[in-house]
Amino acid sequence: MSNKLRAVITGVGGYVPEYVLTNKELETMVDTNDEWITTRTGIKERRILRGKDQGTSVMANKAVEQLIEKTNTNPEDIDLIICATTTPDMIFPATANLVGDHIGAKNAFGYDLQAACSGFLYALTTGAQFIASGTYKKVVVVGADKMSSIIDYQDRTTCIIFGDGAAAVMLEPTEEAYGVMDSVLQSDGSGAPYLHLKAGGSRRPATIESVTAREHFVYQEGATVFKYAVKHMSDVAAKIMQNNNLTSEDIKWLVPHQANRRIIDATANRMGVGEDRIMINIHKYGNTTSATIPLCLWDYESQLKKGDNLILAAFGGGFTWGATYLKWGYDAQ
Ligand code: UT7
Repeated sequence: MSNKLRAVITGVGGYVPEYVLTNKELETMVDTNDEWITTRTGIKERRILRGKDQGTSVMANKAVEQLIEKTNTNPEDIDLIICATTTPDMIFPATANLVGDHIGAKNAFGYDLQAACSGFLYALTTGAQFIASGTYKKVVVVGADKMSSIIDYQDRTTCIIFGDGAAAVMLEPTEEAYGVMDSVLQSDGSGAPYLHLKAGGSRRPATIESVTAREHFVYQEGATVFKYAVKHMSDVAAKIMQNNNLTSEDIKWLVPHQANRRIIDATANRMGVGEDRIMINIHKYGNTTSATIPLCLWDYESQLKKGDNLILAAFGGGFTWGATYLKWGYDAQ
């Protein structure tokens, strides 16, 4: 009898735009200061995709191009592309389809998955199921967001937080005990009033009035979201540890969604994981929504070893939240 199939990550690709929006530059745009942003969020700068007609797919394409190069993948061998995004190029078609066309994934199907800041974990878990069931052999999961397209640069409570970026992983089957071991995912739609986009959907399509009222931008009640984020992200991280009999010593890396350094630290404290075992890049990219977790894997890939236990954890709009237990599958080159 063959062993249980699992989905293992066999490579990571990433991309962040060149333009760096610093706290100093934000000081010239809204009533804020570097000290407030740094102490309240941990963010020093974020990347912004500039230029006309540049959508999320521009960044996702670059991340996936790097991924297929690093993993030596023939694009025609890719079965499925899942793009986690809250800022698709268009309402339809799916950004995943644009990426598939760009890289020449002629035999793949693709779709977008929207779960705000938990999007990558939802997409990773979904992609892993197609591999673990034996249905597909190569699944690309890309998390990509151009948050600057839905941020109001007159609103100091949101514009300091978000940035743009994309990163992708390749999932392939293994019979070894590596890869996506377990996930706990949750959502609660009663959180919608605290974090949402007021207009532009089917309920309130775009009108001159909605544009004038600045309703096509992220609306967030920060302190309320913060409270839920701390509770749910640390609860779910503790739960996945408990479900898999993991102690804090067993965990090599916490890979948290990068929304606020204080939320990250609260989760790490609850798990008993010290600062040297937390992946952090919020200071350079801010909150890139679906891209934060894969961008962490991209930044820290060279430090990862086969067999390392990673806990990925996220919380975001919806509300959505979750954690994934990953056993890393390869030593960095
Ligand atoms: O990514 C997924 C979901 N999102 C999150 O997880 C974000 C969760 N929320 C947060 O990270 C924090 O709530 C924020 C960073 C958004 C805000 O930090 P806070 O410590 O919760 O501040 P606050 O909203 O309670 O505001 C405190 C004060 C207020 O002034 P008053 O009323 O006390 O005079 C704000 O007006 O800070 C003021 N403030 C600012 N001051 C300078 C708010 N934004 C700024 C700013 N610069 N950019």
